[in-house]
Amino acid sequence: MEGGPFSVSGEKMKERLQKILARAGISSRRAAEELMTEGRVSVNGVVILEKGTKADPETDVIAVDGRSISLDVVKVYLVLYKPAGYMTTLKDPRGRPLVTDLLSGVRERVYPVGRLDYNTEGLLLLTNDGEWANSLAHPRHEVNKEYHVRVRGKVTAGQMQRLAAGIELDDGKTARAAVRIVRESDTNTWLSITIHEGRYRQVRRMCEAVSLSVVRLKRVRYGFLGLEGLKPGEYRALTPDEVDRLRRPAHREKGENGPRSVSEKRRGGKRAVQKKKPA
Ligand code: URA
Repeated sequence: MEGGPFSVSGEKMKERLQKILARAGISSRRAAEELMTEGRVSVNGVVILEKGTKADPETDVIAVDGRSISLDVVKVYLVLYKPAGYMTTLKDPRGRPLVTDLLSGVRERVYPVGRLDYNTEGLLLLTNDGEWANSLAHPRHEVNKEYHVRVRGKVTAGQMQRLAAGIELDDGKTARAAVRIVRESDTNTWLSITIHEGRYRQVRRMCEAVSLSVVRLKRVRYGFLGLEGLKPGEYRALTPDEVDRLRRPAHREKGENGPRSVSEKRRGGKRAVQKKKPA
């Protein structure tokens, strides 16, 4: 049978509700499914709980929380320098600050692409373009994300090698990472760790797995994009060119210093642990 458990109108123009909601800039497809299971989505006045349900955006009245959606939304693409102490969810039952609180002046309902932990700082993309957000979140994308991690004490060559080679975590082995020392003091070391996966608390768990205690974690780069010109709490709109470049699958910018991609591995490409440059 085509489509979901039941259909709302004629077959021709029908699309899955989560896809329509993403196109309308309400949320990502996954978050749209949550809205549906929470009973917040209706079609022609009927609350729809079944995830596979289709509707026709031209003829059906699709509403979220009782407000009908429009597919003619202005698309907004932002990069925010997230400070520590902000949630990347759109609601927090504990009432903690949300990244969207920092977006005064943005009228559209944007939401984060992926997530950063409450205590993680750095580069966060936000948009109301569900298709764009989905394409970036797709595993095929392999966007390199660089983190600066302040850990307690010194880091040994063995710990660097293990972080770079991939570490067995409880949800499987991590892919290779590019790891280098950025700076050291008597008490702390700043590491740069570049990964292309985006698992839950991945960098913190990788460090814990090699007995490194993370003091601070900051995402400094997402593909070619950095935090230049932004202070903590500040954001800017992405240029159309940046939006397009980020959209490209398996985005690998020249000169990027990241781990090997699957395709590079197949070609037998090499990447070693990067040593600290001599002072
Ligand atoms: N890795 C983490 O551990 N936390 C983040 O917020 C991002 C990557």
